[in-house]
Amino acid sequence: MNNNIYNNNLKNEIISKADIVSIISSYVKLEKKGANYIGLCPFHDDKNPSMSVSPTKRVFKCFSCNTGGDVITFVSKFKNISYRDAMREIGASLGINVAVTKKELEMQKNKKYYDIMNDASTFYSFFLNHADDAKNARNYLHERGLNDDIIKRFNIGLSSDNDEIYKLLLSKNYLPLDMMQVGLVTSFGSNYKDYFRNRIIFPITDLDGNICGFSGRRYLVGDESSKYMNTSETIIFKKGQILYNYHDAIPKIKGENRVFLFEGFMDVIAACRASVENSIASMGTALTFDQINAFKRLTKNVTVCYDSDEAGINATLRAIEMLAKSEMEINCVTIPDGKDSDEFIKKNGEKALNDYLLNHQVSAMDFVYDLYLKNTNLNDLASAENFKNIVFKYLNLFNSNLIQERFLNKLKDQLNISYDALFDDYQLFKSNHQVDKQVPLKNQNYNQNDNLNVEEFPSFDPYENQDQQLYKQQSNIASYEKKAYIKSERKLIYAAYMDKVNCLEIDSKLKYAYVLDENRNILYKMLEYYQSREKIIEEEFNKLLTEEELLTLKDILKKEKSFDFDYIEDCIKKVKDYPIFKGIESEKNNGQKRSLEDLDDLITKKKKITIKKTKRS
Ligand code: UTP
Ligand code: MN
Repeated sequence: MNNNIYNNNLKNEIISKADIVSIISSYVKLEKKGANYIGLCPFHDDKNPSMSVSPTKRVFKCFSCNTGGDVITFVSKFKNISYRDAMREIGASLGINVAVTKKELEMQKNKKYYDIMNDASTFYSFFLNHADDAKNARNYLHERGLNDDIIKRFNIGLSSDNDEIYKLLLSKNYLPLDMMQVGLVTSFGSNYKDYFRNRIIFPITDLDGNICGFSGRRYLVGDESSKYMNTSETIIFKKGQILYNYHDAIPKIKGENRVFLFEGFMDVIAACRASVENSIASMGTALTFDQINAFKRLTKNVTVCYDSDEAGINATLRAIEMLAKSEMEINCVTIPDGKDSDEFIKKNGEKALNDYLLNHQVSAMDFVYDLYLKNTNLNDLASAENFKNIVFKYLNLFNSNLIQERFLNKLKDQLNISYDALFDDYQLFKSNHQVDKQVPLKNQNYNQNDNLNVEEFPSFDPYENQDQQLYKQQSNIASYEKKAYIKSERKLIYAAYMDKVNCLEIDSKLKYAYVLDENRNILYKMLEYYQSREKIIEEEFNKLLTEEELLTLKDILKKEKSFDFDYIEDCIKKVKDYPIFKGIESEKNNGQKRSLEDLDDLITKKKKITIKKTKRS
């Protein structure tokens, strides 16, 4: 069944079965008045009852503040939860099961990571605004034209030159392993270090508006390290799927029915200062189809405003090709003198940038035509022929009769030949060059079960170091290998579930060297459970698991049944070898192993604390 129809049916079933009067009166005192009920409206400061609830129409409405809707809306507003969560809650009391979506599962699973990012971001921004040391950074930003409003709006912060983030997160009881997972902390020897040091911090949000990574710009005089440092790819930070400012710009993009696409987030900030707020940027990587699909949902019209230096022009040509294949309507803006929008605004001011972006757009075909014409010597036959073929290539890509006629006419004059002859050439070209318009579908939902993230459209990131690139190239091979490790892990979980002795053995030999977080968590929970029990009672144990963990465990119990416990030793060894296999990332892994020992310490310490506490009480 179509998903939307399914959801609508479910929603209607809940609304028709739920008793709106009794549900609302569990939160607000209602009194019967004629056919309806009235009560104080909880959504504004109500003095006289102005909210009316109609049991026949199954809606509520406040005549003072105008809030109204069905029973699900009431619960979601009252409890400040999503509509779907409210559906689930009311559904549960009616015996109607509202399934968790894949996206929700993913959110739940990654919640601790988003929490870490939020806590870190709050600190960075506090530090920029209040620390004495931050004066230089604030001056730097002000000098670049970013005033306090802009700093606030884009949530800009500052990282210290010591390890404040590590200390802060530790004090909030996050595990060092998780801090490393999201790329905020690295380890050196047995010490942990903040990843971002002495940098101005720009939080990056994913398409849903959750902070998932950071970019840090150097600002200190004499700092020769790279200009920007970005969070490297993590479970929640996948550069190829992220667009800076996307979530905030959604209403503006829809409203203007156009999106402005920039190379860097500094340009987006400049554009927003110039009141062109429907602006987004990819994170210093080449554009991907995932990103195109994200804004294609909002508008068909895109204006590409990449830098006008050589790299920017090449990136523009590449973007035009991909956007055309995605059937977008494309305009281009070329900021004069090889500059970007940020430099333009600095020199010419906000009004001038606004005018330039809005009024100096040309169609992508005009952009390509003029660009290549400049480099063509029409008196040279080969050069003219080459120019002709390039024009053909793009005409073929856009595939519009209007564009085609207009540019063939222009070209025939330029080449000084007849329209018919040129048209014949073009037909021949077309029959030899078929454009594959098959645009890949959205690729947002990773199979969380294996967490492998095989990139379908590897994007080249010029700022990534060579090791990372090498690792990426090998990631397909790595994926298969990784699968084998995960298989072993699953077998171990099965063995531990079936017998306490196995669980203790696995724990003592494997420690925390798991490949997947989730598996590690399940095993921890078993270990804890076994401290007071000899055997697992399914119903009791399941309650300790998150929904996602439960799904995984059920799957394991079903599929790994035939596992022979004689092979436990082998599986442990296999899982343990995983970091060695990942040799390319060896440095990171050494860090990880050490951190795992420290994690061990930390947990022992924590246990001691809990024991002390219980003794006293
Ligand atoms: P630019 O070099 O054009 O940066 O890189 P910019 O926007 O002009 O920055 P300022 O004005 O010098 O501060 C464009 C994008 O490429 C990525 C960043 O995402 C940046 O926004 N980049 C650039 C990096 O990731 N690392 C770098 O060292 C440089
Ligand atoms: Mn710049």
